[in-house]
Amino acid sequence: MKILVFFLLCCLSSKSVLSSPGRYEAIFNFGNSLSDTGNFLLSGALAFPGIKNLPYGETFFHHPTGRCSNGRLMIDFIAEVFGLPFLPPYLAVAKGPPVRTGVNFAVVGATALDPSFFYAQKIGPLLWTNDSLSVQLGWFKNLKKSLCTTKQECDDYFKKSLFLVGEMGGNDYIFPFIFGLSVKQLRAWVPQVVGAIARAIRILIEEGAVDMVVPGQFPVGCSAVFLTLLHSPNKSAYDPSGCLKAYNAFFEYHDNYLKQELQKLREEYSHARIMYADYYGASIPLYRTPKHYGFYGGALRACCGGGGPYNYNNSASCGNPGSTACEDPSAFVDWDGIHLTEAAYHFVSKRLFYGGFTSPPLLS
Ligand SMILES: *[C@@H]1O[C@H](CO)[C@@H](O)[C@H](O)[C@H]1NC(C)=O
Ligand SMILES: *[C@@H]1O[C@H](CO)[C@@H](O)[C@H](O)[C@H]1NC(C)=O
Ligand SMILES: *[C@@H]1O[C@H](CO)[C@@H](O)[C@H](O)[C@H]1NC(C)=O
Repeated sequence: MKILVFFLLCCLSSKSVLSSPGRYEAIFNFGNSLSDTGNFLLSGALAFPGIKNLPYGETFFHHPTGRCSNGRLMIDFIAEVFGLPFLPPYLAVAKGPPVRTGVNFAVVGATALDPSFFYAQKIGPLLWTNDSLSVQLGWFKNLKKSLCTTKQECDDYFKKSLFLVGEMGGNDYIFPFIFGLSVKQLRAWVPQVVGAIARAIRILIEEGAVDMVVPGQFPVGCSAVFLTLLHSPNKSAYDPSGCLKAYNAFFEYHDNYLKQELQKLREEYSHARIMYADYYGASIPLYRTPKHYGFYGGALRACCGGGGPYNYNNSASCGNPGSTACEDPSAFVDWDGIHLTEAAYHFVSKRLFYGGFTSPPLLS
């Protein structure tokens, strides 16, 4: 009996894994530095030239690709799990022959809200890019003309495509927090930021998208950038993992707001499959017990940086003079102060695929 149960569990679950390749013919991704595979680099990377240099890309690709990590990102692991090629950046393929297996519209630094919102708040000049979510949607509509012509043809193709909307919104808060705005001030922005994400989802569904993944936020209060620039002299500002409690609670607040909005969208578009990807929940064990998962460098200290208690130095950030990288990035969670290492992204991806942190599940 035990053997039979084992057999059923084993073979049912491996069947579901084996059936995932071929489930989608294409992936379209919208986002920021968590998923950009080269658009920002192709735009000149003026606000963040360090990304043009090693050690960015030192693992796996062995050269800088425009990805904000030492190696692959979650979008790369998602492409791998479905047996699709890595997503080329839109700006590399926009003028070439149509790419039928998916394109990436994400740009490092991109915001969900338009730049005009930030200029009205006097924090526009801090932005790294103006290629916000609405610009990325414009790129998608432009590309669509080369992919399909009739509505029927587009619907058939997009029905077999996976759309990722985000993570988006992180930068809408991260830049203002660093500028000095408070948690209380930014809470008032959450409905607008989530509203911009919901609007993008509506537009994509109207364009024919059916399956989409909408991720939430990482616990940014655990990042070396926040721990360095927004440090507190008050011990009670930190949780037992050493993360800044108030910022993490803020990013969870965004996630809860987003989840409520997604529920409304599911009711509005019952034919669509809107999957929420819980980046926060999937990554939190890394911060609680990093060594348990082989991250012997811990979770809070960046692998690549210019010194200081968390190895983050604003005037010597990763890829720039004055910074150095750790010997073994796979032993670190934090890559450059704000982005994760390939090993950490791989850990989180596996929990999204197999650990129940995407709901409804991405692989079924
Ligand atoms: C964004 O647009 C504003 C206004 O047009 C411009 O001043 C700014 O330089 C642009 N920023 C970037 C990073 O391109
Ligand atoms: C430290 O933070 C706690 C709660 O966050 C607060 O009650 C306390 O007054 C703070 N102490 C100082 C010295 O700021
Ligand atoms: C940060 O980098 C600057 C420029 O390289 C350097 O002068 C400074 O000492 C560094 N600070 C720390 C805390 O390492």
